[in-house]
Amino acid sequence: MDALPLAPQSQAVAKPAIPPAFFGETVTWVHHWTESQFSFRCTRDPALRFVAGQFAMIGLVVDGKPLVRAYSMVSPPWDEELEFLSIKVANGPLTSRLQHIKVGDTVLIGKKPTGTLLTENLLPGRTLWMVSTGTGLAPFMSLIREPDVYEKYERVVLMHGVREVKELAYHDYIERELPEHEFLGEMLRGKLLYYPSVTREAFRTQGRVTTLLESGQVCRDLGLAALSPEQDRVMLCGSEAMNADVKALLEARGFTEGSNSEPGTYVLEKAFVTK
Ligand code: A2P
Repeated sequence: MDALPLAPQSQAVAKPAIPPAFFGETVTWVHHWTESQFSFRCTRDPALRFVAGQFAMIGLVVDGKPLVRAYSMVSPPWDEELEFLSIKVANGPLTSRLQHIKVGDTVLIGKKPTGTLLTENLLPGRTLWMVSTGTGLAPFMSLIREPDVYEKYERVVLMHGVREVKELAYHDYIERELPEHEFLGEMLRGKLLYYPSVTREAFRTQGRVTTLLESGQVCRDLGLAALSPEQDRVMLCGSEAMNADVKALLEARGFTEGSNSEPGTYVLEKAFVTK
């Protein structure tokens, strides 16, 4: 009787018990951009609903308990899977583990996405500015693929500031693939203006997003009028320092902050995960 085949369940990897506030989803793709940034995709429960720009609590079961952080969805609401962009911090409680996920692993996805980077939190305007640094790009990756955004705005500007060129996650996708996208291409061609900038090495556009906005350089480069609360709407997502600096710059020009209770001429969210 020593030749009995193994029962299938004896080979299966034990799946963690999923806490009730979460969906347990399966990782389908992982891409490491640099030693400090990666993206991954996972399955999406059909019951998970979200609006472009929102975030959810996501993470892993560790020692039988959920270890989660807020992550903005990179994927648009119409995508049948979910995608996220994360930093990797060697001693970060979550990202030190999350950076090792592989296809087939289980991740926790919070059932209640939320957030303020929503077009409905902004008053009507002509140009929508999305200003990000680092992984603050994430919610804007979802928004630039949301058809509703192009119906509401004549123009969409996406600024992404990073230290080094290799940190420009999704650069090639935005520049090359998106304009050719079967459904979105036509809608966003000529309307989406992508403006990456790099602070610590040579690149075609250099400098902090704050400096580029303050000096008017970005408007000159894109052939746009100076930023004004009459026609421009702004969404910010970056480090606390970046958010505070851009907020001050906008408020000095008469912009007012919008929220889920009252729309304004700009909204902000911090790029959450730093550990
Ligand atoms: P810098 O290289 O001048 O510090 P980080 O990786 O630290 O999150 O930074 C991402 C990008 O955000 C970098 O280009 C960094 O520029 C820039 N940055 C940092 N602080 C601010 C700020 N207060 N305002 C605008 N950009 C900032």
